Amino acid sequence: AKKAVLGPLVGAVDQGTSSTRFLVFNSRTAELLSHHQVEIKQEFPREGWVEQDPKEILQSVYECIEKTCEKLGQLNIDISNIKAIGVSNQRETTVVWDKLTGEPLYNAVAAPVSPGPSDPVAAVPSGSAVPAAGTSSVWLDLRTQSTVENLSKRIPGNNNFVKSKTGLPLSTYFSAVKLRWLLDNVRKVQKAVEEDRALFGTIDSWLIWSLTGGANGGVHCTDVTNASRTMLFNIHSLEWDKELCEFFEIPMKILPNVRSSSEIYGLMKAGALEGVPISGCLGDQSAALVGQMCFQDGEAKNTYGTGCFLLCNTGRKCVFSEHGLLTTVAYKLGRDKPVYYALEGSVAIAGAVIRWLRDNLGIIKTSEEIEKLAKEVGTSYGCYFVPAFSGLYAPYWEPSARGIICGLTQFTNKCHIAFAALEAVCFQTREILDAMNRDCGIPLSHLQVDGGMTNNKILMQLQADILYIPVVKPSMPETTALGAAMAAGAAEGVGVWSLEPEDLSAVTMERFEPQINAEESEIRYSTWKKAVMKSVGWVT
Ligand code: G3P
Repeated sequence: AKKAVLGPLVGAVDQGTSSTRFLVFNSRTAELLSHHQVEIKQEFPREGWVEQDPKEILQSVYECIEKTCEKLGQLNIDISNIKAIGVSNQRETTVVWDKLTGEPLYNAVAAPVSPGPSDPVAAVPSGSAVPAAGTSSVWLDLRTQSTVENLSKRIPGNNNFVKSKTGLPLSTYFSAVKLRWLLDNVRKVQKAVEEDRALFGTIDSWLIWSLTGGANGGVHCTDVTNASRTMLFNIHSLEWDKELCEFFEIPMKILPNVRSSSEIYGLMKAGALEGVPISGCLGDQSAALVGQMCFQDGEAKNTYGTGCFLLCNTGRKCVFSEHGLLTTVAYKLGRDKPVYYALEGSVAIAGAVIRWLRDNLGIIKTSEEIEKLAKEVGTSYGCYFVPAFSGLYAPYWEPSARGIICGLTQFTNKCHIAFAALEAVCFQTREILDAMNRDCGIPLSHLQVDGGMTNNKILMQLQADILYIPVVKPSMPETTALGAAMAAGAAEGVGVWSLEPEDLSAVTMERFEPQINAEESEIRYSTWKKAVMKSVGWVT
């Protein structure tokens, strides 16, 4: 059959902590034509450690691209209409690989070994605690807590040294300390650096390098948004910062080139889309800001993924928070275009709590079942769940916190716990919104939301009730991928997406209005805060 011809299409890789997706959009309307998703394994080799296999991630990208192209074929859509590919990714997650072999360098210790100083990788615990082959350290990982404590004792000048340059607090969350850990503990990484074979990158760099040819001419780059999460990048000069690299003792030769978020980085080297330019790159939260068209000062979005991330565009000004928020690069859509900044409230655990109820407690079989359980009771019956699995991020930045479920009675059942888990996501967002309102001065009149969890109607209604403002959700929740596709389609030399609202005509909005009274909303929120206080100080 003759294949139908559409306007120019743009693909986007959305590589998240929980899954990888490839999605193809019509650049005239933003209609999502086809997609494929693959869940990604997370290894927890020790308490507090979170790892993923960069090769599995890369493989999942290829698989998603191939499967999406097959599905497009079944729809009679010609894949030669795909004119560009954008990449959006989980941020901060750190990979070091060998530029000659293309292999990630944080390799498994094949059998239990006794740790010894002569072989630093052996310091990695043995047996079940051994990391999987070729792992990357994920943003949620806490192994660098002591690295952070040691570094904070020798911050030069005043405590503002890191924050004033990067917009970030010194925390286990960001890449520089993960990279420091790899350099200190993994012999293969040390050797590759000495022999000039090591390359560092966040997931975007690893993917773009691999997809554009890897050891055979792959392009080693990142974009300003991803760079701004490494804690090595000066968000004012938009360059790697020499003083920060000296402070963290990171060799600058292993860092990728920093480019804008919208320009041709290289061409796909293999697979169904061989030869298609990769021309958009944004950390997933910045991509969602673009996908939601939050281009004006004061416009904000909240994305519900593994974590929850509320970003507010602050325009061309770098605003520093007084209330625990981060300052980050929002986007720079073209080599000669200005940079925009955002204030960000990061919540570590959102969707991850649902995955935990599924995988660790087994009270649901699929993530979608949480809605059914919560609906059965419609209340947590006084049960509060603080999922501080990795400490608390914004606005507390409290590494000593750990998860608690409190307010239990003999009446409490799994439905109440499910409800409390959803409420926890909403309360955490409320804390961020409060901080954002205090920093920005003008309270947000509504919240734009996106991400997989926004398909859960109970969650959306709860969010409106707890924030006490309307929540507005696009009909197509894949805004992260859409943002990356828009950046790719708008790049110089591609030019198929104009970034005007008319190009999003396929996306409609759904609104959730608060339905409880303000007093009830406040009482529940203040009880949540009491629960948060109880979660602090579990580890010293
Ligand atoms: O900063 C971490 C963030 O980028 C991860 O996103 O989609 O896995 O919640 P996600």
